[in-house]
Amino acid sequence: MPDLSGKFGLIVGVANKRSISWAIAQAAAAAGARLALTYPSERLEENVRELAATLDKPVILPCDVGSDEQIAALGSALDREFGGLDFLVHGAAFAPQAELSNPFFQTSREGFRIALDVSAYSLIALTRIAVPLMEKRGGGSVLTLTYLGSQRVFTNYNVMGVAKAALEAAVRYLASDLGPKNIRVNAISAGPIKTLAAAGISGFSNILQVYRDRAPLKRNVELSEVADAATFLLGPASRAVTGEIVMVDAGYHVTGI
Ligand SMILES: NC(=O)c1ccc[n+]([C@@H]2O[C@H](COP(=O)([O-])OP(=O)(O)OC[C@H]3O[C@@H](n4cnc5c(N)ncnc54)[C@H](O)[C@@H]3O)[C@@H](O)[C@H]2O)c1
Repeated sequence: MPDLSGKFGLIVGVANKRSISWAIAQAAAAAGARLALTYPSERLEENVRELAATLDKPVILPCDVGSDEQIAALGSALDREFGGLDFLVHGAAFAPQAELSNPFFQTSREGFRIALDVSAYSLIALTRIAVPLMEKRGGGSVLTLTYLGSQRVFTNYNVMGVAKAALEAAVRYLASDLGPKNIRVNAISAGPIKTLAAAGISGFSNILQVYRDRAPLKRNVELSEVADAATFLLGPASRAVTGEIVMVDAGYHVTGI
């Protein structure tokens, strides 16, 4: 069991109990970390508050990652509450519904902008507020969530694949910038899991079935398995790992025909 006791973490991307970020929050809390959770809108605030009530002294803060003002306010609030930060989990992603069902060549300029802004640029903006807080703690770990659709074509994943490619490149550039500050930046590329975000992708159940048929482990991955890999990347056991995309997908990515 990784030890995150005495550590302060920020988790962005909890929508409900099926969220990958919530599974990571639970695992990090079980490992001893104290957490701040964010909600992007009033609609989701109650969900996040209810879930967070099961944690020890959680801090709940608003943050729509599309807003520079809210991100700046989040940084100040974390400084006030924790006086520093040891890790950041970035699990926010969004693309307008039409972009996940229309043919990819129909991607609109606005759909592209929103998907890349919320799903990729937000990692850079959130990391920027985390840096001074992590410096106060002598370093830190930033973790985001990606998908193999960044490199291969998955039906209807469309502009989200482009956003994930940008996100993964951002992981490498951030890792290079921040390594000298002892801040590591990594991503987990998870196999498909039925969550709110996944429900927006037409034909998602078919993707789950193909993984069960073809992945070396002949099954899908569970939330707890992604969370276990996450606590490894957030904690000291991964202290020499940065700039990495860790595949937690039952091995699906190695398969050919
Ligand atoms: N579920 C999968 O199959 C799968 C596989 C690989 C990677 N991922 C990635 O994991 C991450 C978490 O997704 P999930 O599957 O747990 O679904 P989810 O719907 O539970 O989480 C997505 C989160 O993004 C948040 N979000 C959307 N727009 C936002 C905004 N403007 N500001 C702040 N937050 C915003 C939502 O509130 C939600 O909490 C995403 O990056 C997703 O792409 C998911």
